Amino acid sequence: MHNQLEFDTLIIGSGAAGLSLALKLADHSKVAVLSKDALIEGATFYAQGGVSAVLDKHDSIESHMQDTLTTGGGLCDPEIVQFVVERAQQSIDWLIDIGVDFTRSDNKKNTTSQFHLHKEGGHSHRRIIHAADATGKVIETTLESRVRQHKNIKLFEHHVAVDLITVNKFIKSSNRCVGAYVLDVVKKNVQVFKAKNTVLATGGAGKVYLYTSNPDSCTGDGIAMAYRAGCRIANMEFIQFHPTCLYHPSAKSFLISEALRGEGAKLILKDGNSFMQRYDEREELAPRDIVARAIDHEMKRLGHDCVYLDISHKTNKFIQKHFPNISNYCLDLNIDISKIPIPVVPAAHYTCGGVIVNKNGETDITNLYAIGEVSYSGLHGANRMASNSLLECFVFANSAYNHIKKSSEKSYKLDNIRDWDESRVTNSDEEVVVSHNWDEIRRFMWDYVGIVRTTKRLQRAHHRIKLLKSEINEYYGNFRITKDLIELRNLAVVAEIIIESALLRKESRGLHYTTDFPISDDMNVPKNTIIKLNIQPKDYAA
Ligand code: FAD
Ligand code: SIN
Repeated sequence: MHNQLEFDTLIIGSGAAGLSLALKLADHSKVAVLSKDALIEGATFYAQGGVSAVLDKHDSIESHMQDTLTTGGGLCDPEIVQFVVERAQQSIDWLIDIGVDFTRSDNKKNTTSQFHLHKEGGHSHRRIIHAADATGKVIETTLESRVRQHKNIKLFEHHVAVDLITVNKFIKSSNRCVGAYVLDVVKKNVQVFKAKNTVLATGGAGKVYLYTSNPDSCTGDGIAMAYRAGCRIANMEFIQFHPTCLYHPSAKSFLISEALRGEGAKLILKDGNSFMQRYDEREELAPRDIVARAIDHEMKRLGHDCVYLDISHKTNKFIQKHFPNISNYCLDLNIDISKIPIPVVPAAHYTCGGVIVNKNGETDITNLYAIGEVSYSGLHGANRMASNSLLECFVFANSAYNHIKKSSEKSYKLDNIRDWDESRVTNSDEEVVVSHNWDEIRRFMWDYVGIVRTTKRLQRAHHRIKLLKSEINEYYGNFRITKDLIELRNLAVVAEIIIESALLRKESRGLHYTTDFPISDDMNVPKNTIIKLNIQPKDYAA
């Protein structure tokens, strides 16, 4: 037994969810935070629009709840919606307390709040608090500066969790999680990280698709690890496609925030005509599933590569104040958004399904929590409403904190754990296989499991993922692991879960649209699609 580290809580992931929880727990206990890349890298850093919360006197909790439920297509858990929406103000107060500098209001006609509030799709009020159009960057760097100063938080950057460590010795009802095997990317060795509580805060899985707004870290690792350890995974067919990502050969995954549409930006075709009025009376501010499908339909109907988003009715001064990040990024590509329309396409954006959790963020496995985009709490249903996801990160970081703090009073000794076994593997001599398989999965997921689906295409994708998965597992069994191989293995698991979930849902609802079952079916289709591994998870006790 060598080189085994031990903590009170191991948090896998350093985005909004992971760092918020770390900060809260660290006043009472010793915390380790893992990050696959540099600490700030992850979806949080790139969030633009903001965080939804009822902050204006003319708005109400009931209205925020109703908008969330309507957008969720009948699948949100109303109790969880209320739980989250009621805690939004408290989350915003906490962010302001730790130093997040939100944009102030300079126009009291718009709001009774001291902060400027955006409006986004599905919301019937202005309720998105933001830091210009770089809300995620401001939140993440504020959290970063706080966690870096805390003596009880040990940060492990460039450390990739490979698998959860579970034991089932002294526990009858389920497995207990006692930590994770972790690859140190720099030293290239796998260590045992033991902890009384382990928290998955690993974000979503947008990289399973060829075109995505997500950064490279979003490979669904937490969902795949939880699945292998025996957790139930829910509603993975509901992958959200953001309607407006920049379409330009030099732009990689750059989002054009929905907040532009909240300020009146119009979606238009090459000929300058608008089209959203033909699809929904809320036009550009309909929920994302409707807007993304409308764009997809227009692009296919006309054989066009993109549509355009036009905000040129606003002054340059207004655009620079509210959207400086987007405006400057586009200007570098010779697109002056105050003068000409922005070419946009839909791209995979958010994973609505995930690891099933309760109000405390507890999973099916004792001492294993999941918070943030990796989880399925019941908040988003069949389609997440804009800016509800950062909110979910903060609310569940807080409830997991309360639960961990309370349950830590019952202390127990951690089991001895087997070291990582590398005795039967060698260094790979054909790493190109990894990148080829990555490309293949992402391309067929885009082609066959995208915005509009059919049973035939889903079956085709299912056949391919089965073949690829067995190839990847064989490779994994024979060669020393690398970050790329870990991510590919996880991506394949998540792709298979998405496909199987989509095949199980024989209806169209929210983000899942199939031409074979074009309408919603409340009578015959179960509310949630649940996928679970049907074998006894491993016992890693020594
Ligand atoms: P992330 O911020 O993605 O962090 C995940 C962390 O887990 C990273 O640190 C990563 O390194 C780590 N990790 C992953 N796997 C491993 C592993 N195996 N080992 C170790 N570490 C691992 N939502 C809103 O509410 N409002 C917005 O305005 C908004 N805008 C968005 C704009 C963009 C471009 C994108 C991509 C998303 C946006 N979203 C927005 C969604 C929102 O940003 C995310 O849902 C949210 O930030 C997720 O936070 P998280 O903490 O769960 O995960
Ligand atoms: C955006 O700014 O359009 C993204 C908001 C979100 O994903 O909630």
